Amino acid sequence: MSPPIRRIGVMTSGGDCPGLNAAIRAITRRAVHGHGFEVLGIEDAVAGLAHRRARPLTPNVLDLNGFDPMLSTGGTILGSINKPIDAVAAQIEEGYDELGLDALIAIGGDGSLAILQEHARSGWNLVGIPKTIDNDVALTDRSIGFDSAVHTVTRACAQLRTTGVSHDRVMVLETMGRGAGHLALSAGIAGGADAILIPEIPWSLDQLVATVESTRQQRGHVFALVVVAEGAAPPAGGTVGNIDRQGRPHYGGVGESVAYALEAVSEGRVESRATVLGHLQRGGEPSPIDTILATEFGTRAVDLVADGRFDTMVALHGTRVEAVPLADVVQGGSASVQPDDELVHTARSVGIYLGEA
Ligand code: F6P
Repeated sequence: MSPPIRRIGVMTSGGDCPGLNAAIRAITRRAVHGHGFEVLGIEDAVAGLAHRRARPLTPNVLDLNGFDPMLSTGGTILGSINKPIDAVAAQIEEGYDELGLDALIAIGGDGSLAILQEHARSGWNLVGIPKTIDNDVALTDRSIGFDSAVHTVTRACAQLRTTGVSHDRVMVLETMGRGAGHLALSAGIAGGADAILIPEIPWSLDQLVATVESTRQQRGHVFALVVVAEGAAPPAGGTVGNIDRQGRPHYGGVGESVAYALEAVSEGRVESRATVLGHLQRGGEPSPIDTILATEFGTRAVDLVADGRFDTMVALHGTRVEAVPLADVVQGGSASVQPDDELVHTARSVGIYLGEA
């Protein structure tokens, strides 16, 4: 029989997103009130373990006389990092014991969860919670932060529409998402895009121009909204963006290249402007759906700890929150948009150009 749980750690790892504080709040409430556990907030993900930076969390830690910013504030009160740290594995792994943890709940994306699972081989009791605006964690329908980012991008679509229509322009909106097009696809549908370009589906400039030109017949003037995922192929092929100091792709620039190509091939018939939403997509208040998901995931993760069901991740399947093996999630890699996804079909059914069918 494993020893009783007295103290659990919680950390946020990888890029931040709306809903992380709501998850921390739910974990703390369920742990203290539901199971009588002590909760330690680990600061700056694995850096907190390596350098023993942690602080006790109580259910009312940020409840200011009835005001509770934990539900509605973006970012993470624990801090996060999404790059390798200057510490050897043993320094991180021993932090778990030195901080007196009996279990660790890690809120992270696919990359962070894979790294933490590797460290957990040293004997940690680990439970994961998926978060990322990219929604590309395997084996879950949703990750915390995705719905809020869809709201942000959808609002941006509405704002670009009014200025674009007023000036007869093609407005190109570049979203985040790394190698996955979930965010662009959902927000493009919600925001009334005429075309959505995502990494998973090849597209052609000729078809895009034809889509844009067809708005002249439909609307009497050329206005179109094109939503481009940052990882989509640029018009000339190859890749745009840079490689960061860790050798990982640093996305950005495909929107500008699409806008430029549209103007170039249309020989002056189309005027186009690109907007990059960037980190605005990661900030702001979580949507109610994300706050609810964070609360469900947080409480369920604590219950998994109490039941001794480690090396698992909480996941949303339809409307049910279930536990899946963390090893399967890590092995699944980044979950991309599949050509036969329901939303791909829906987008095409309402006449959105989504690349080669
Ligand atoms: O994975 C989340 C994400 O926001 C991606 O969509 C984006 O490419 C990346 O992180 C940006 O990371 P950084 O904060 O390092 O610029």
